[in-house]
Amino acid sequence: MRLLSVVGARPNFMKIAPIVEELKRFPEIEHYLVHSGQHYDESLSASFFADLDLPQPDVNLDVGSGSHAVQTAEVMKRIEPVLLEHKPDLLLVVGDVNSTLAAALAAVKLGIRIAHIEAGLRSFDRTMPEEINRKLTDAISDLLFVTEQSGVENLRREGVDAERIFLVGNVMIDSLCRHRKMAERSPILDRLDLRQSANGCRPYGILTLHRPSNVDDRAVLQNILNAVKKLASEFPIFFPVHPRTQKNIERFGLTGYLDGIASSKGIVPHDPLGYLDFLSLNQSARIVLTDSGGIQEETTVLGVPCLTLRENTERPATIEHGTNQIVGVDPDRILAAGQAILHNPLPLYRRPPLWDGKTAPRIVAIIREHFRKPLAA
Ligand code: UD1
Repeated sequence: MRLLSVVGARPNFMKIAPIVEELKRFPEIEHYLVHSGQHYDESLSASFFADLDLPQPDVNLDVGSGSHAVQTAEVMKRIEPVLLEHKPDLLLVVGDVNSTLAAALAAVKLGIRIAHIEAGLRSFDRTMPEEINRKLTDAISDLLFVTEQSGVENLRREGVDAERIFLVGNVMIDSLCRHRKMAERSPILDRLDLRQSANGCRPYGILTLHRPSNVDDRAVLQNILNAVKKLASEFPIFFPVHPRTQKNIERFGLTGYLDGIASSKGIVPHDPLGYLDFLSLNQSARIVLTDSGGIQEETTVLGVPCLTLRENTERPATIEHGTNQIVGVDPDRILAAGQAILHNPLPLYRRPPLWDGKTAPRIVAIIREHFRKPLAA
């Protein structure tokens, strides 16, 4: 059996790593790893390969940045000859980035079967590029591996056969469970002088922002930074800044908001962090404010209060079970929700079902079974 996986952007790497690891147990399965090159900066790509112990990709398509159409088209053009050369029995794609959809679209036209890991999530917000990528990828995939019950319901509502849908849990949490101990050895807490004692840290928060709807509009970005700066009046909020966000903060003249001091208060900017450093910082944070999907899931499992700076989430399990709250981008609402977290005991939380660190073995078992007994085309 020959599998070919495609990854492209930062949130893909921690989703494929546990699958690559699990596949090592089955030497009869040949596996090729293709990197589209959508993310190419060391801090968004190579450092994740190192932290996650991922092998170098067999092929890098080097597509780089571009408009959605250009990036998607470039991945399709460049992956087609790779698919023709390797003729995989199954293409594995993860998540919802442009590379996910592009690879799936090229494969389906060549008659190659597709497995989508993290299928079925829906924000019901068609202005999000990821929502379009998710829906289209699901529509052309043969095996749909789902992280949470809402995903099963969304796919059933869209008319997908039950026999193609597998509720398996969350591969991102496999990576988290596997690397949690290792992350404790990251030097980041000492480097930022956050440790108070061997077991405790002084209070700090984390901010991450990269969604175009939050960072491409000056007024929205300014409102968010304004609210977060007020929240950070008594403790520092560390802000690893995504390159897209960095460019916009400079272009909009908002660098003045990032004048915090690590040892006391304010928004403290930082270069993007690697996987282990971010996990370490995340584990001991008092509060996380984010527009990322994956961080909503990671804080849920770590029990760290999370405010999602969006009007919706495609990951409702993080609210039903976890520590996540949707607060949108209204500054008063962000500030009120943040202060409520700081002045109240930590919320009770549970892990969503099957977020147990054993999702990759379930996925690989289903794939192996599928090749013994394929579904009807
Ligand atoms: C992409 C994904 C998003 C994911 C995010 C994680 C899509 C549609 N979006 O968004 O779902 O949550 O990755 O980071 O696929 N850039 C660099 N260095 C890089 C890559 C990008 O500086 O290595 C800059 C470029 O200016 C580029 C911009 O960031 O134009 C945006 O990159 P892009 O890959 O288009 O989207 P992200 O915002 O990273």
